[in-house]
Parts: sequence; C-alpha cells; structure tokens
Amino acid sequence: MTSAFLGVDIGTSSCKALLMAPSGEVLESETVDYPLSTPKQGWSEQNPDDWVDGAAKAIAAVVSRSGVSVSAIGLSGQMHGMTALDADDSVVRPAILWNDQRNEAECDEITEAAGGLDALLLMTNNRMLPGFTGGKIRWLQKHEPDLFERTVMVMNPKDYLRFRLTGERATEVSDASGTGLFDTVNRRWSNELLSRIDLDPTLLPDCTESDVVSGMVSAAGAALFGLEAGTPVVGGGGDAVIQTLGSGVVADGVLQTTIGTAGIVASALQTPIPNKEGRLQVFCNVAPERWHCMGVSLNAGGAFAWFETLMRGSKHDRRDYDALVRQAETVGIGAEGLLFLPYLMGERCPWPDPSTRGAFVGLRAQHGRAHLTRSVLEGVVFSLRDMAALMADAGMTETHVINASGGGASSSLWNQMQADMFNAEVITTKSAAEGGAYGAAMLAAVGTGHWQSINEAAEVCTTDKRWTPDAGRHAAYSELFEIYRTLYGSLTEANNRLSAFVADGP
Ligand code: XUL
Repeated sequence: MTSAFLGVDIGTSSCKALLMAPSGEVLESETVDYPLSTPKQGWSEQNPDDWVDGAAKAIAAVVSRSGVSVSAIGLSGQMHGMTALDADDSVVRPAILWNDQRNEAECDEITEAAGGLDALLLMTNNRMLPGFTGGKIRWLQKHEPDLFERTVMVMNPKDYLRFRLTGERATEVSDASGTGLFDTVNRRWSNELLSRIDLDPTLLPDCTESDVVSGMVSAAGAALFGLEAGTPVVGGGGDAVIQTLGSGVVADGVLQTTIGTAGIVASALQTPIPNKEGRLQVFCNVAPERWHCMGVSLNAGGAFAWFETLMRGSKHDRRDYDALVRQAETVGIGAEGLLFLPYLMGERCPWPDPSTRGAFVGLRAQHGRAHLTRSVLEGVVFSLRDMAALMADAGMTETHVINASGGGASSSLWNQMQADMFNAEVITTKSAAEGGAYGAAMLAAVGTGHWQSINEAAEVCTTDKRWTPDAGRHAAYSELFEIYRTLYGSLTEANNRLSAFVADGP
C-alpha cells in the first residue's frame, strides 16, 4: 500500500480533506458542508462539533477512495475563530468566527489598555481588529462572564481539530498571529500585552513554528477519524497564510490574490515590515524566519454572491454566475460611468471600519443588469488593487506577477481585469483551487522530512494558465481607480448618518 500526506482545511462553509502523493499530485479530495449561524446582525458562529463531524466524513471519503495509508497530517483552517473549552474539554459556547463584527468596543478597550494604537503596534505589529480572537475573548469575559469563568483554554478552529486528533493543546505562529495577542516580530505570545489587558496566559495554547510535528494521532483520535494511531500531525497554518504556500508563493515580489467570500492580497516577506497604522495584517509565515503581509477585505466573492442572488430573484434555485459574467463581457471598462464600492459587510482593509457601507455610484437610466454586474466585478478588483497600494506604501516590493486563487480565479474575465488593473501578468497554479488543504498537505510533507524546505515544496506548484495586461485597458482602469479611491472618504459622513438612522430606528 502506498502512502500519502493528508491536508485538512476547516473552512467557513465546509471542511476539505485532500490526499497528496509524495510527487505533489492530488490523489483525492472531498468537501463536506456545514451550517453557519448568524443569531443576530453582525454575529457569525459555528458549532465546533460540526467541524469534527465534517472532517471525519471528508477524511473517511478520501482514505477509502484512494486505498493509500496516511503518512502525516497537516492542518489549515479559518483564522481567528474563538473556540473556548472548559476543564472537561467541552466547548462552552458556539465558536465566534472571523467575520463576526460584535466586538468593536472590546477591541477599543484592548487598544486603550495597551497604551494606544502605537503602543499596541510595537507589541504585536497589528491592530486589534474585530475579526481577531483577542477582542472576542474580551467580549466573552464582559458579556457571558459565567462562561468565561468556566473557560480554561481558547483555541482557533484548526487547533481544536488538532486537539480532537491528538489530545494536544497547541497552535503555531501563523494562527497565533491572528489572535492579535502575539508578538509577531519575535514569534511568541506578547506577555506584555497579556499582562496589560490582564489576560491569563494559560488560557492560550503552546505555540511552535508551523512545520513542527505537534503530536501524534491518539487512540481516541484514531477511532473518531478512522486513522492510524501514532500518525504525526504537523502544526499547519491559518488558511489565509498557508494557502500562499499551496500556490507556491514563498518569495518576495509575487503577490497572491484570493477571491473567495473574502478578498485577500498577500505576499511573503523576508523581514517583518512595520504595519504603521495597522491597516494591514503582518503575520508570521508558515515558513520559519519568514513573515506574511496581507490585506483582507470582507467583500469579494461574497459581494458577487449577494448581487447574483438579487438578480436571480426566486426564478431558479441554482446559482448562475456564468450568465451574469457573459452579460458583463458585453459592456466596456467602467460600465459607462458606474462604480461599485463593495463594502456590504463593513470592511477590514483598506479601511478598518465595521460600519461602513457599499454603494453604486454614477447610476444613469441607460444602466442595466450587465452594467451593474460589470461594476460589481470591477469594484471587487479595485478593492484588491487598493489593498495592494497600501502594501506598496508600506514598503513592499512592487509586483509584476499575480498568483490568482480562490473561487474567483476560475473566472477568466476577473483574471483579465486583475491583469489590466495591476498591469501585471496573472497566473493560476494547478493546485490553487484546493486552497488551504493543499498547503497543509505540503507542510505535512516538509514537517516529516519528505521535502527539506518550504522552497523545495513550492517547486511542485506549476503554472496552469496566464493572462497578460493590455496598456490601453490599464490606462483606463488607472483613471477609474483614482476616482474609486475618493469614494470611501466622500461617503463616510453619509454612511455614518445612515448607520445612526438605522440604529435609532425611523
Ligand atoms: C484572515 C481572515 C480570513 C479567514 C477565513 O485574516 O480573516 O481569511 O481566515 O478564511
């Protein structure tokens, strides 16, 4: 029986398990969906047992179909999700996820306790964003004190899966960075911040580098997941970080863009750049002695999904993005003077503003469905471009290659828009569609010595397709981008007043 590396990704809508042959070839992959609960506006929660059940089903499917044995396991997962455990190792409440917006006030309190934003940035090199785990722990303490009293350990989603697989309470540097409580420059928990906010350090798991073997599958884990006891489990990484490895993006100067529900622009760094106003996320990379810089927008594929639902009405049950994209192709750049600001869920980057709003700007009577579609697609790419501009301002190498990933990378129109807006060649790699699960399997192979380094692992990520920029289209998009960049500021007062109107009731 041959052996393979297993990568498991605990996503927001599903769990993916994937088996990768020692050559890097994907042998099998399986996705199991689970529900997301939004009990109040701005809240986003999930039951951690659903992750475990989903992982067990996905793992069983790939192992039984392939007939191979699993030589090592790597983990990836949605970042920042607060999973709180009591002394009996039971979860005390549903996990509070990365896209939950309830804890702006608690983030402000932490920032103040740290001595202000500049002091916080010196400790962690990151702002305490409402998405991050730290503000959620504070929220639990303030709003559900009985549950907080019972809590003895807080983990991120993939680390909870590790706990159920191995019994180890452990994390690694990339996911720890996303708690906002981690000294990302020195790659350890920020004891200074923990003491200023009076948070007991024993609530947080031990932290290692991402390519370290964190434990072995226990007898209980073997029974639950149908795996061999003693199989090594490597640290792994937060999805937004580890998926860069899964696309082979390991060197400075190559930018990865991801159009999933969220939009991400990311690059590897040899040294951690200062994150001046904390508008970017500068995290530890899954590669030792490397860092990772990214902008994360809460509105990318999710904005297009919203628009598609709106256009479809109740006519059909199935989504049909392709029909809309074909219409958008019939309209020229800039959709005859129509711009879309995609901030439908509030925003994280380039503007850390949970209460900002989206907009169509420039509507005229001649605009129809095709124009609106085109402007939604363009608005998402303008937002990626805006985050990349912020990264360039922070001192990152300008890029001439964009590695496109996420569901959006299956759209040729979206990839061409990226090439034209960024004036860069856009490529996709064969494995990129597998997301974090592929990076996790690669890291399992590095951590158990099959590959000697992350760079060697990245060589298996070969280019699949290319899109080249056009100078004329780039010039047109550059002009529109200048206008797009004025919109957030121009609409801020109106948006604040609208939010107040909604909060107060008519
Ligand atoms: C990264 C982030 C998202 C989640 C969900 O900071 O918030 O990418 O990890 O996938």
